[in-house]
Amino acid sequence: MKEKFPENFFWGSATSSHQVEGDNFNNDWWEWEESGHTPSSGKACDHYNLFEEDFTIAKDLSHNMHRFSLEWSRLEKEEGVWDKFEWNHYSEVINTLINLNIKPMVTLNHFTVPQWLSHIGSWKNPDSVGYFTRFAVKAMEEFGDRVEYWITINEPIVLAFQGYVLGIWPPYEDRMESSLMVIKHMLKAHSEAYKRMYETAATGYNMKKPRIGLAKAVTAFHPFSPHSFRDRTCTFLRSNFYNHSFVKSIIKGKIDFPALDPEPLAVKNGVDFIGLNYYSRHFIKYVKPFWHNWYGDQADSRERKDFGETNSLGWEIYPKGLYEVVKSFSRYGLPIIITENGTCTEDDSVRQKFIKSHLSYLLKAIKEGCPVEGYLYWSLLDNFEWAEGYKPRFGLVHVDYETQERTVKPSAKYLSQVIRTGLV
Ligand code: GAL
Repeated sequence: MKEKFPENFFWGSATSSHQVEGDNFNNDWWEWEESGHTPSSGKACDHYNLFEEDFTIAKDLSHNMHRFSLEWSRLEKEEGVWDKFEWNHYSEVINTLINLNIKPMVTLNHFTVPQWLSHIGSWKNPDSVGYFTRFAVKAMEEFGDRVEYWITINEPIVLAFQGYVLGIWPPYEDRMESSLMVIKHMLKAHSEAYKRMYETAATGYNMKKPRIGLAKAVTAFHPFSPHSFRDRTCTFLRSNFYNHSFVKSIIKGKIDFPALDPEPLAVKNGVDFIGLNYYSRHFIKYVKPFWHNWYGDQADSRERKDFGETNSLGWEIYPKGLYEVVKSFSRYGLPIIITENGTCTEDDSVRQKFIKSHLSYLLKAIKEGCPVEGYLYWSLLDNFEWAEGYKPRFGLVHVDYETQERTVKPSAKYLSQVIRTGLV
């Protein structure tokens, strides 16, 4: 008999507010778009208005879970003032999913912050911890009776790198010290929010027992020269630093991050499941001087003979990497949900092949005992991609940005068939 995915597996897709809703006038990203630093998101997929239509498509595709994010800048336009109308909007979003029998997974922060926060230093400001926690508690008060699955912060290390070291995302800084501050405050914010959200759920009326995780960007790191001791060492250090340090700190209840003081966090074991966002593989090579570049450099992968096919952003498609990262994160003994995995391409047959090959490796990991509970494809819709705008198309559903017409792609139907049969 052919191996199948478990019956009670979570299947679906993910989106984020700024990438699909449109007209997010009050966040930091919008302000940088207005000043011409980054492509304009504009109306995006108008998902703010069309969410019901979009969720109905997800339902027709047999999805039973959907990950989306609350847009903090809509809900708290001014510091300390809740916008009732917008809280009602997300309440309707959640009810719509539940009525369709799709479990909502709510991300509290997916990269964008309200402008009032970005004007006082965003995540560099130590007060961001308290502001985020207050927002997380309010979200639990509002939705904890209906929402079980929560993600605090999406890809903290990615934001800290893109925005504060590489300087290619808002706020376009290139200072390692800034990025370390951001990581420190995000660690504290996650831990504090975890603790306070649990307290809120315990005292509130009719609340569900929450399951609070984070969505961690993970990369399959390989040494550029497998025979080089130095490349292997840098690869090990890079994987530890980029893939594991954040999660390890949260589990230990103590900051355990290179170059950060080992301060205690609000709680130990402050995570109920690990969300993994997996896209690609990087080759790492040693660079001099080691003391400065201890985590090595990303090599030009095209120099490697075994470099695979790429997506439209040039990222290598490496399905076995999903197996590798799932195996590596199984060490924590916590449930794992693939909170993002996907590819951008104009040729949908590439996406179909991508889904098939990645799911085959995921099934292999499950068969070997890895505690994987779900798979969410990135993304339901073609959407606004942070620095690249609307060119890359990641969606299961094609969006015509002129007319907002949706067209289901064959790859979406393929995934739907896997969901219905359990067979890849
Ligand atoms: C992730 C991110 C998403 C999406 C995706 C594809 O890092 O969480 O927002 O943009 O990459 O690039």
